Amino acid sequence: MRVLVVFAHPRRASFTGELLDALQSGLKAAGHEVEVADLYSEGFDPRLDAAAFDRETAMACEVALPVDVLAEHARLLRCQGLVFVYPFWWSDVPAILKGWFDRVWTYGFAYAYEADRSRTTQLTVRKALALCPAGHTDEKLDALGLREAHWRVMVEDRLLGVGIPEAHLELLGGLSGNPVEIRAAHLAKAYGLGAAF
Ligand SMILES: Cc1cc2nc3c(=O)[nH]c(=O)nc-3n(C[C@H](O)[C@H](O)[C@H](O)COP(=O)(O)O)c2cc1C
Repeated sequence: MRVLVVFAHPRRASFTGELLDALQSGLKAAGHEVEVADLYSEGFDPRLDAAAFDRETAMACEVALPVDVLAEHARLLRCQGLVFVYPFWWSDVPAILKGWFDRVWTYGFAYAYEADRSRTTQLTVRKALALCPAGHTDEKLDALGLREAHWRVMVEDRLLGVGIPEAHLELLGGLSGNPVEIRAAHLAKAYGLGAAF
């Protein structure tokens, strides 16, 4: 399938960037076509402005969307797979990626309500994955409830919640201090997730 990978890290030469490389290698080995949306290097503006706020709160589908949002919609509609690769910052996605959801998951595209209040979507994505390295250990992420919290927000609300039928989270802990063995295990995991996508 064609897979859009949304990458949100200020440095391409980072461990998160290495995860992106490993994931892409796995995806390509499995025969998938890959397109990367590198939000920082593309200069994506994460700020929802007043006009967009008015459109979203009024659920006014007839109000035209900005060209950069339409471009994101176009590349999403080319894809059946969607992967997010980003570091865990303050127990959530980096602000640039949060803003991507604010601006790109628009009413009438990501979700809309029918007369009977059921939800519909224009998204063609059938499967999604969030791949997220974290400084805390896996034990600490579990003990603090942060893996569960991030799954609820990122997977249940932002992905399954807009009608994507299958979505997963891989929160890869233990990166504080850059431990070599943990990094190698996470890179192998990212390759495997790509190959099995
Ligand atoms: C601004 C900032 C906030 C962070 N917040 C968290 C956090 O809340 N929980 C956590 O486990 N790690 C946190 N970290 C650590 C990063 O998740 C970790 O360094 C990163 O995943 C490693 O990948 P990188 O070298 O590609 O940045 C934070 C790092 C930064 C820079």
